[in-house]
Amino acid sequence: MNSTTKTNTYTDFEKDVIDGLQAYPKHLSSKFIYDKNGDKLFQDIMAMPEYYLTNCEYNILKYQSASIAEKFDLKEGFDLIELGAGDGKKTKLLLNHLSNINANFTYLPVDISQNVLDELGSSLEKELPKVKFELLQGSYFHVLSQLSSYNKRQKVILVLGSNIGNLLHNDAIEFLKKIQNNMTANDLLFMGFDQKKHPQIVLDAYNDPKGITEAFNKNLLLRINKELGGNFDLESFFHWETYDPETGTAKSFLVSRVNQEVKIKNLNLTISFKAWETIHTEISQKYDDETVKWLAQEANLSIDRRFESETGYYKNYTFKKS
Ligand code: AVI
Repeated sequence: MNSTTKTNTYTDFEKDVIDGLQAYPKHLSSKFIYDKNGDKLFQDIMAMPEYYLTNCEYNILKYQSASIAEKFDLKEGFDLIELGAGDGKKTKLLLNHLSNINANFTYLPVDISQNVLDELGSSLEKELPKVKFELLQGSYFHVLSQLSSYNKRQKVILVLGSNIGNLLHNDAIEFLKKIQNNMTANDLLFMGFDQKKHPQIVLDAYNDPKGITEAFNKNLLLRINKELGGNFDLESFFHWETYDPETGTAKSFLVSRVNQEVKIKNLNLTISFKAWETIHTEISQKYDDETVKWLAQEANLSIDRRFESETGYYKNYTFKKS
């Protein structure tokens, strides 16, 4: 094969770009925002005062760790498995409490990035030397299925950050079902769900004046330029956020300011945009108890307990197999 021949096996990113930019209306998946630059921008988002989600969940873990830990099998011991552990900043609050009460447990952070895990590992050794941990690199479900076959004590599965909100309801149910399939009657799922609230507060969280969210959203176009030979002019698109208080769905778009054509060399594609045409890039679902209960039921799970932030903006729920 010479260097100009392209096989027709596309990566997931390439497939998403080919399908999404040739569809009407156009769309791209938010999961491709996260490369090194996207990860950094998301860290910056989490530090913004408008992005209340991080602080709310931090405070739940800070002030309610003792009641959360009451749900764990402190007698027989347990494995605390975190899907998408990141820097573990919030989880360390719970780990600190568990370490203080000399709980018998192992912390198993799962992440796709070995780099993220290595950093987490060295910070745990320094900050929480009593906590036993094992770093697990890989995709969530691959790791979960391996764990359920080798360890029989209670599994507590953590999914923080309202990451489920980036999935449409049907995909969220599929995600919960896959977790449920790897749980036994004694296991617990602990998960964060951002709640419905004043629509302006939601809009502000996804529309910051410094343009960090805009840069995060536009990272999709930047990646197409860098990785697929695209020639998107980033200035000719702008970020737009909507929130429907009835459905609780916040939606992110990139809007073309002008009629334009964009070429994506590696995919042999030319994409036309009319002025004001959109690319839908992300949903960030906001929930209420009824919706969480329904999602759980569809996945054969039931709500066990709720832990609410002071403002009621955010809740973590524990779920059991029903
Ligand atoms: C990762 N996820 C839960 C974030 C959210 O709130 O939907 C991603 C994000 N998008 C814009 N700001 C933050």
